[in-house]
Amino acid sequence: MSMQTIPLGGSIGAEICGVDLSRPVDSETAEALRDAWHRFALLVFRDQALDDGALRRSARWLGDASTISMPTDRRGDNDSALALVSNILDAAGKPIGALGDGDMWFHHDNSFTPEPDKATFLYAVELPSTGGDTLFGDCAAAWDALPDDLKADVQRRRVLQVYDYTVREKPDLTRLDETPHCWQPAVVEHPVTGRKALYVDPLMSAALDGLSEQASRDLLEALFPYIERTDYRHQWRLGDYVIWDNRLTVHARTDFPATDRRLLKRGKIRGETLTPAFP
Ligand code: OGA
Ligand code: MN
Repeated sequence: MSMQTIPLGGSIGAEICGVDLSRPVDSETAEALRDAWHRFALLVFRDQALDDGALRRSARWLGDASTISMPTDRRGDNDSALALVSNILDAAGKPIGALGDGDMWFHHDNSFTPEPDKATFLYAVELPSTGGDTLFGDCAAAWDALPDDLKADVQRRRVLQVYDYTVREKPDLTRLDETPHCWQPAVVEHPVTGRKALYVDPLMSAALDGLSEQASRDLLEALFPYIERTDYRHQWRLGDYVIWDNRLTVHARTDFPATDRRLLKRGKIRGETLTPAFP
């Protein structure tokens, strides 16, 4: 096995060299990949050549692919396991994928479902001339950085995670019955490493339980600056493949020219019910 793990310099993220994801990985490499992924929460593989079949199989070392929860009328494609993250329009002017143009706020993928996917991967197929970077924040470091009073305020609470697919900004609470949502522990414990991580984010966290509406909003606003942190910034190159842990990281996207084309292919690995760090 010639796999090398090169830390990317921050508290999360490592580049993996010497692994071709288009080929089945042996059990020793699979184990090394899982170890690295648990240690660094995010792995980068450069120069991968992956057709859709290979992409579907690319993360078997970590678990089973999950089926896509986003309704097909809100995304241009209808594959059950691979999604297109793209601003490209087809000949009829319809988006070929989801999450179109512009920046995106920090978020945890699928946090609005009862068993959020544990991992997401993105694979770069077409890239804009500038921008469209993906930023990653370390949610365990965010928890560690919280002052004691905020830790005490949030630690046993649940957070309402809402995703209105039609907007990429604040959730709309008046339409909750037509919007995917789920109560989650506001601080989670990682099922493998035991690390505690803050599980609120500015894109999807709409309320904290046990508080008045105003107090809940105030506490969320006090917490967001701690989670909006860039511990690793991925500047995409064609052929890049990035896979991250949705329990330990948040991610965001920077703006890019709407006149440029951007296409990433995305897959997810099935997760389990989240474990509260303070039951
Ligand atoms: C996603 C996502 C960020 C990006 O696919 O879940 O947040 O850089 N994408 O497109
Ligand atoms: Mn996302």
